[in-house]
Amino acid sequence: MRMSLDGANEERGTRKVRGRGVHIVMEPDPVSTVLQIAGGHCLPRCLHVVADLGVADALDETPRTADELAASVGAQPDALGRVLRLLAAHGVFECQGDTFRHSPASRLLRADHPQSLRALARMFGLPINWASWEALNHTLQTGLPAADKVVPGGFWAYFAAHPEDNGIFNAAMAAKAHGQVARVVAAYDFSGFRLIGDIGGGRGHLLHAVLDSAPDASGVLFDLPHVVREAAGVASARLNLQAGDFFKDALPSCDAYLVMEVIHDWGDEDAVAILKAIRRVAPPHARLLLIEQIVPDDPGPHWTKTLDIHMLALLGGRQRTRPEYEALFARAGFLFGRQIDTFAGISILEAAPA
Ligand SMILES: C[S@@+](CC[C@H](N)C(=O)[O-])C[C@H]1O[C@@H](n2cnc3c(N)ncnc32)[C@H](O)[C@@H]1O
Repeated sequence: MRMSLDGANEERGTRKVRGRGVHIVMEPDPVSTVLQIAGGHCLPRCLHVVADLGVADALDETPRTADELAASVGAQPDALGRVLRLLAAHGVFECQGDTFRHSPASRLLRADHPQSLRALARMFGLPINWASWEALNHTLQTGLPAADKVVPGGFWAYFAAHPEDNGIFNAAMAAKAHGQVARVVAAYDFSGFRLIGDIGGGRGHLLHAVLDSAPDASGVLFDLPHVVREAAGVASARLNLQAGDFFKDALPSCDAYLVMEVIHDWGDEDAVAILKAIRRVAPPHARLLLIEQIVPDDPGPHWTKTLDIHMLALLGGRQRTRPEYEALFARAGFLFGRQIDTFAGISILEAAPA
């Protein structure tokens, strides 16, 4: 425990007690730190299962008991009530007596919410994800993705072979991008480009919004065949679909390239190979717009450090610092220009052919 004089503004502990003129800052209890982390994995698992069952969809504005919710979703009432109590303690649903009501976070688990995160929560709980965490030792011992050990061919091959989970993954990417897309479009002027490529663009959610903001531009969505098939709904006279593999097939020649949360899926050698494939077809005036969540220098907790371990275990990828991205650009023949922060936790790194 440390004590500080009033005004020192110390916030490092888990608890802060205000006395007259003195702040008493409680350092985190180390036993509790280890306990919470060691046993904490049941919390995300509860969220995955509740999202899968559609519990949030079974709850409207009227508070409901665990028995009523369990009857709606086909769960065991006591088990569901206890799982919801834990989630409610962490801000997902609110517990009032023996009833549950929505919190802002639980509303996001509804399939019909305009910013729904249900697919994202389900994606984190997919068998390939969960089995990979079980095999994390393999990653620590070899540096290789655990997913490659638990699924033949690894992460992307799994989705090519499992259409239902592929649908959940692609919906999850669109869901995680809800908050990002509007900020990216607001932060960058796309109106000067005639043809814009979205490489690894998933269902085309970003490209679609970008083209809305640049009515004179056209776009090409490039992704794997089983993903592009799911993007048929966004195709238009101005938005073409191109199925392919960026390691094997030629990419379209464009004035600008959107590459959002694709490079983080790959280790440095593969990342450079993708950027070189773009460099080969990019005209000299083209702009590369890499859109990624950048790891900050700050040693404290940050979502990018969690995401980094997801990338490591599932894909052999990594979240990077800005200097690490600049090094990739240089190796692939691009010159880094500027970083544009979108204030959605994601930045645009603009580069041009060197
Ligand atoms: C993490 S997702 C990002 C999707 C989208 N850009 C976004 O941010 O919402 C990575 C994308 O890369 C695509 N991808 C993976 N391997 C690929 C390959 N070899 N060729 C083309 N696209 C690939 C995946 O299908 C997926 O859509």
